[in-house]
Amino acid sequence: MDNKEKVLNPAPVRILGIETSCDETAAAVVESGARIASSVVASQMATHGKYGGVVPELACREHLRAIVPVVREAVEQAGLQYPQLDAIAVTQGPGLVGALLVGLTYAKSLALSLGKPLVAVNHLEGHIYAVLLEEHLQQREEPEFPALSLVVSGGHTLIAVTKVVTRKVTQKVTRNATQKEIPSPATEARPLAPLFSHRIVGRTRDDAAGEAFDKVAKLLGLGYPGGPVLDQLARHGNPNAVAFTKAKMKGNSLDFSFSGIKTAVLRYVQTHGLGAESAERAAFRKQHPEAGITELLSHTSPKTLDLLASFQKTVVEELLQHCLAAVETEDVNSVFVVGGVASNSLLRERFRGLAGRLPPVFFPRPGLTTDNAAMIAAAAFPKFQAGRFAAWDTQADARLALGE
Ligand code: KG4
Ligand code: ZN
Repeated sequence: MDNKEKVLNPAPVRILGIETSCDETAAAVVESGARIASSVVASQMATHGKYGGVVPELACREHLRAIVPVVREAVEQAGLQYPQLDAIAVTQGPGLVGALLVGLTYAKSLALSLGKPLVAVNHLEGHIYAVLLEEHLQQREEPEFPALSLVVSGGHTLIAVTKVVTRKVTQKVTRNATQKEIPSPATEARPLAPLFSHRIVGRTRDDAAGEAFDKVAKLLGLGYPGGPVLDQLARHGNPNAVAFTKAKMKGNSLDFSFSGIKTAVLRYVQTHGLGAESAERAAFRKQHPEAGITELLSHTSPKTLDLLASFQKTVVEELLQHCLAAVETEDVNSVFVVGGVASNSLLRERFRGLAGRLPPVFFPRPGLTTDNAAMIAAAAFPKFQAGRFAAWDTQADARLALGE
């Protein structure tokens, strides 16, 4: 291949991503932040389901069990041998510290033994980067920046202004002493992928949106995680049946609060005699964890369906209204909706229906909105190009902030 051809068609940079921040052990190989060669997600749903939420100690144990076979499967599915990888990327935080440690320790060992660089990725930035990965997969142009990023997951709910950090083409490669042997990233032959900075303009003061979905689902005997089931059942109820009062925020009006609506649902269940039905449904779910929506529907009264639909509508409207308010004050050219709750069908429908009142809205596909490692490998690519490698003593950070 001559030099001109190399510039037009540079060899792909293959990054193995590892994600263990919560209850999914995931590994993926992504080429140059743009093509998914493999993506494996081992869910721990069966382990945590019976407790109605994630049990941190059990999550660690499950990650320990799954990490080696999941990573091996991702490398094999990509049709690669370990030495063909260019870097190992891993979620550093935020998340459950014990769960993060499993992924980080394994990633460090792998990188050290293979002589490859280690790239540490913020889990929330991974969720945001999933939008870019989606646009590459669809072979579309990258969205215009700055973007308003609405991150809605089980652990986080925030709005950030995401900007592209400008940098020189010949970036100084920063590495620590033990990484001297690692070859320099071949950035010259390839356009630079955007490095992001984020400024948070609103965040939840209590529960995350996904947490509210999960807690309401648990209360109504729908099992864990509650979001996907609630989403499907809510389609059969009247979203205007129950009026919930909007949370009033003192100070920053872009902040969220979802603990009030959870308590309001509890009160409604108590005052409308829906407790027995919920307990019966919880028992049914335990006995039949594989039961589909049709079966669940036959165990759910119209009143409960109305409650679910009204709850979902209220949460979705809250998220939407805050984004509408944010684009009034922030100069943004796109809106990114990411994180597990971005799979919600009403949320997608409502955001899409607002064309004209919002800048263009981007969602990753459902498999890239919930936790996965492809988003981590993709977000690592611009850091790899910039030579921003993690030191070997990098620590897991349960509260890692999304920032510069
Ligand atoms: O991003 P994610 O996979 O993990 C975290 O980083 O937390 O998000 C998981 C959350 C859970 O709370 C789950 O109930 C919620 O996303 N979720 C949904 C839907 N699918 C997943 N919430 C509402 N509707 C859905 N379709
Ligand atoms: Zn997540």
